Amino acid sequence: MGERSSPPVLVAAPDEARLAETEHALQSSGFETILAAGPGQAVAALDARHPGLVLIDGLPGAAAADLCAQIKARPAGRATPVIVLSDELPVSDRVSAIDAGADDFLIHPVPATELTARVRSLLRVKAEHDATAEDVRRLTEIGIALSAERDLNRLLERIVDEARSINNADAGTLYRADWDARVLNFAILQNESMGTRMGGVRGDRIDLPPVALDPSNVSAYVALTGEIVNIPDVYEAEGFDFSGPRRYDAVTGYRSRSMLVVPMRNHEDEVIGVLQLINAQDPRTGAVVPFPPEDVARTRALASQAGIALTNAQLIQDLEAFVDGLIHVMARAVDEKSKYTAGHIQRVTRLSEFLAEAVNGCADERFEGRRFTTDELKEIRVAGLLHDVGKIVVPEHVVDKATKLQCVYDRIQVVRARFSLARRGMETAALRRKLALVQSGAPPEALAAVDEELEAAVRSLLVDLAFVEAINPGGEFMAPDKLERLRGIAARTYVDDEGVTQPLLTEDEVENLSIPKGTLLPREFQIVRNHARVSSTLLSEIPFSRKMRGVPVYAGDHHEALDGSGYPDGKKGDEIALQARILAIADIYDALTSSDRPYKKAFPREVAFRILREDVQRGKIDPRLVELFISADCAGRLDQEEKTRPTYGVSIRA
Ligand SMILES: [Fe+2]
Ligand SMILES: [Fe+2]
Repeated sequence: MGERSSPPVLVAAPDEARLAETEHALQSSGFETILAAGPGQAVAALDARHPGLVLIDGLPGAAAADLCAQIKARPAGRATPVIVLSDELPVSDRVSAIDAGADDFLIHPVPATELTARVRSLLRVKAEHDATAEDVRRLTEIGIALSAERDLNRLLERIVDEARSINNADAGTLYRADWDARVLNFAILQNESMGTRMGGVRGDRIDLPPVALDPSNVSAYVALTGEIVNIPDVYEAEGFDFSGPRRYDAVTGYRSRSMLVVPMRNHEDEVIGVLQLINAQDPRTGAVVPFPPEDVARTRALASQAGIALTNAQLIQDLEAFVDGLIHVMARAVDEKSKYTAGHIQRVTRLSEFLAEAVNGCADERFEGRRFTTDELKEIRVAGLLHDVGKIVVPEHVVDKATKLQCVYDRIQVVRARFSLARRGMETAALRRKLALVQSGAPPEALAAVDEELEAAVRSLLVDLAFVEAINPGGEFMAPDKLERLRGIAARTYVDDEGVTQPLLTEDEVENLSIPKGTLLPREFQIVRNHARVSSTLLSEIPFSRKMRGVPVYAGDHHEALDGSGYPDGKKGDEIALQARILAIADIYDALTSSDRPYKKAFPREVAFRILREDVQRGKIDPRLVELFISADCAGRLDQEEKTRPTYGVSIRA
């Protein structure tokens, strides 16, 4: 009986004669031996050669027990069986040897056949133990690897790779159950000997139609019942419709034989997929064999871990998609809030990404070797999308205040109506005067004089209205002479239909029309500015993941300036992160190059660059980033992209 495939047997004996005798007995039965003369050599050989069994022969009782204890204490010897072979020994010595971990105890003389039978038996136990330990180790490793995999496609592919590997299976298919459509969808399809690899990250696309959840199909049956099906030969099996594999075989020349089909479940014990393995191969001969029972247990364990890993990855993916969706909705809501700033969020986000990428591409030490990771780039992208989210709470008529008199509507209409009323009042008064003159028999010259007076008064009224209309859009600076003129108009009155004298312009209208530049009153300006604080406050309410925790700060700081003159907190220098500085430059550039107020014209790119550089001179923004923004042509990249990209296409995913 040849034992050459067994691991070697370590023989430890006190003298050469004893060693030679035991070696002879073992070698004549085909065992490989390692000889150690004494305990020291035995321990060294154990560590170096990893024998399958240790035979301690002829050592005195205490020495045998001591060596046995040493062997069992070492990692290489913990699971290695030990046989103590001894001459006549007191019971107490035998007991202490067994207590020290000896697995068998024999008293000389022992027939060679009995000795080899015992060695063989313990080697078998050791082999079983090793195989189980290896299974546990491998399944643990696979479990760790699967649970660490976040990419769904890679995970699916890995599940099939590992399942095929631990079963020596030639082919494997993974289906995902769609209970709404009542089908199994092909996710992964592999056939080693046919050179087929489909699905996952490395495989070709799968175009196969889904499998209906009909119990005559073995995979559907497994999905429906949750049972494991193990078939030695599909050509001889009954109860299932194997016309599919037979057709495949007929076309390809393949021969489907053994099949193991295992369900995969989620954390709620629902079947979410089916793993089908085909043609287990004998590792030594390569011949196709049925899946042995131990493979079924292993595969069940693997499928269970795979199901949980798959569920986790799916949940994480769903959650990320959900969060991404919400972020887009918020970003879009801000963009859509004002027709004047439409697209601002998108453009600032893209410009910020381009600038961050340019920082990563910087060959010199301008940024002290700073490189944004993929997660940090995503963080910048999300901060860009949400930087103006605070504008949600700024009233539209302030965000979009197109003219000085605009509240919910432009009050210039009211002013016009009032001027018109004043004019009618003047005309009525003139007519009354003329009637009185006619009745008193006044000459025609007196009537003509009234007409002339009226004409002059109306002309003056219209000129004043034209002036108010001209200053309302806020495009021109209100120089002192204009303010003086406005005050003059504000002092004018008219008599309403009730006969009450009223001012031509209300106090509030005068206050708004007096705005020196633009359309916003200081208090309205404050409301608009407050959006940065609101962005920061709103975003800090969101429990961002650890990787995204910078979003509220970067978004909230996009109006801060390095010299401390920014808002909302007046942060200075190093208090402002590089990410927030990037957003600030993108934000300023976009505000300059798009007309975000009707009275404001959009500056050409070169003028915007000049203004950015002036802001650098004033110490407001980061000079390194401004120069990089210009030299890396972030603006040109955006123009190029906008020509080819749909209007709303910034993806949060990398
Ligand atoms: Fe802003
Ligand atoms: Fe902005």
